[in-house]
Amino acid sequence: MAEHDRPRGTDGAAGSPASASVLVIIPTFNELENLAKIVGRVHESVAHAHVLVVDDGSPDGTGQLADELSAADDRVHVMHRTEKSGLGAAYIAGFRWALERSYAVIVEMDADGSHAPEQLPSLLARVDAGADLVLGSRYVPGGKVVNWPRHREWLSRGGNLYSRLALGVGLKDITGGYRAYRRQVLSDLDLETIASQGYCFQVDLAWRTIQQGFTVEEVPITFTERELGESKMSGNIVREALLMVTKWGVRNRVQRLTGRR
Ligand code: GDD
Ligand code: MN
Repeated sequence: MAEHDRPRGTDGAAGSPASASVLVIIPTFNELENLAKIVGRVHESVAHAHVLVVDDGSPDGTGQLADELSAADDRVHVMHRTEKSGLGAAYIAGFRWALERSYAVIVEMDADGSHAPEQLPSLLARVDAGADLVLGSRYVPGGKVVNWPRHREWLSRGGNLYSRLALGVGLKDITGGYRAYRRQVLSDLDLETIASQGYCFQVDLAWRTIQQGFTVEEVPITFTERELGESKMSGNIVREALLMVTKWGVRNRVQRLTGRR
């Protein structure tokens, strides 16, 4: 297990809580109807938070809207990428951007309102209390899913169960995408080696975080299905997740059996 010698709960800056310096990364592909609202809600909940929109050249004009929001507000930043290259690649680019700056806590949040910004303070409080990665969790007591079609909820529950069994971890919502990382987690992980493109990126990062010896905690969230726009979930994303999680699980068992770590 790695040792991380840092003051618990602070970013080291004169005892201020780590969450005093927070960046919320919002990846977007065709989220024109949702973007302004989610950014507004973030700032109503955590006024000092900065937001980075990572847009993959959305044909619906989300990128231009993000530029307008950024021009009107110093707390809003935009990264334009030319192609839709998946959630994982968008987040990794966003993490690099954050690490080039001084943010102490880096948050992942969907653009479509499924992750309530009003619950962000509860994630940040756990980072301030010492957790290295805090997962917003639909499947711990107090967590909820609202308006998801039954097949999506079963896919999500199945994906979580499979990941728990394959990887031997106790987390209830390792596939979720509402989370807060202490900066040091992302700077210690080898972002170059992350190949997950779709939503299995979430499992990948949580799994790597655990393996690095960081503490991962879950707080209950209410996940509400989007009202506007469409999910980008696809058969390919599910297949990639199944394949990758199986690969990591098998590799982990082999390493344990052969005594390598
Ligand atoms: N830049 C970029 N590029 N953004 C993307 C891409 C991409 O290729 N694909 C999806 N996004 C953005 C969407 O615009 C949205 O803001 C967010 O990522 C989540 O996408 P959705 O398509 O709304 O995801 P979902 O609601 O089906 O899935 C949710 O549940 C999954 C399973 O728990 C998300 O929370 C996922 O993160 C989560 O893994
Ligand atoms: Mn969604």
